[in-house]
Amino acid sequence: MEDSEYDDDMSSVRSGSPAPSLYSFHPSIDERLVLRNVHGRILNSQNETYMLPADVEEHQRLDLQHQIYYLMLGESLYPAPDMVRTALRPRNDYQPAIFDVGTGSGSWALDMAKEFPHCNVVGVDLAPIRVTGPLPDNVRFEIDDANLGFAHYRESFDVIHARAISAGIHDFKGLIGEFTDALRPGGILLLGDGEMQLYDESKEALPALEPGEPGFSWTQRVFFAAYNAMKSRGGSIDSPSLTPRWLQENGHFTNIGWCKIFVPIGPWVENASPRERQMAEMLRTNCLIHINGMAPLLLSEGYFPETVEKMQREAAIELQSLQVHLYSRWNFAWGMKTP
Ligand SMILES: C[S@@+](CC[C@H](N)C(=O)[O-])C[C@H]1O[C@@H](n2cnc3c(N)ncnc32)[C@H](O)[C@@H]1O
Repeated sequence: MEDSEYDDDMSSVRSGSPAPSLYSFHPSIDERLVLRNVHGRILNSQNETYMLPADVEEHQRLDLQHQIYYLMLGESLYPAPDMVRTALRPRNDYQPAIFDVGTGSGSWALDMAKEFPHCNVVGVDLAPIRVTGPLPDNVRFEIDDANLGFAHYRESFDVIHARAISAGIHDFKGLIGEFTDALRPGGILLLGDGEMQLYDESKEALPALEPGEPGFSWTQRVFFAAYNAMKSRGGSIDSPSLTPRWLQENGHFTNIGWCKIFVPIGPWVENASPRERQMAEMLRTNCLIHINGMAPLLLSEGYFPETVEKMQREAAIELQSLQVHLYSRWNFAWGMKTP
């Protein structure tokens, strides 16, 4: 079958509409975003591959990951709480607004809409959210590609949040420039992502090793394979640790801050607190689902099916038995657009 024979047409249309709706479909022909499913790969009109939360299982994993982020940030939806709450305080002259880019299952946007009922929340993603109930009046979701920029949202938001989207972004530093323009003066940018690099129990980065070599981990092997696949598709997969520097280089941010949080994959740390144990257990489940869902990416990269199956099987055994003690690292960065 040729690439021109599509299994599915996943066309959607970019929108800048301020009108509340579940999905805003307001055609703008020159900005039309067309996504196609070709043999299980999601391609845009330039035949570039996108990572989409294509199924219910992936959205459930994102909901679980959302809970992990919440615990990681000390039972909060965001770092820098004073800055966020100040930016979102009720105002007499306009209604504060929140933008969640790469919203995934929409959990963060929905939780922010509940926490800040006086704010408008807009979530955008390449794919639709999974709707399981009525939406709050102050939230709406749009289908859009962050790689096309946000020229239609100049100085529109008081908080912009982009979490775990690096794999789908071609130029993350350029995207920070787009966010700068979309923020109102004094608005807050919140960035966060986990790394595909894993760490040993001393929090040292695991090198790429071969089976049998001391320190080899199948989990690291499968994450490294996925990292390479995402990178070869043009994803800004190295951006999580670079965002503080890019915020500084941008020149329009003040009060820049960042933190890096290590979370064990599975409850192998002795004397961990109940909250740390819970997070580690949730992260192990999250990793198992994530690894399970990596097959299409790895197969499209040219791995043999039996190689993928072996990597997935061995990584699952490793994680379930806690044979290898692994940490993952999560990076957060934030800054205020100069008032
Ligand atoms: C790992 S999920 C994270 C979802 C959500 N931000 C969270 O933290 O739960 C990555 C999301 O980013 C979306 N995404 C990736 N590239 C994108 C792009 N260029 N424009 C819009 N959304 C994108 C994907 O479709 C997916 O839903």
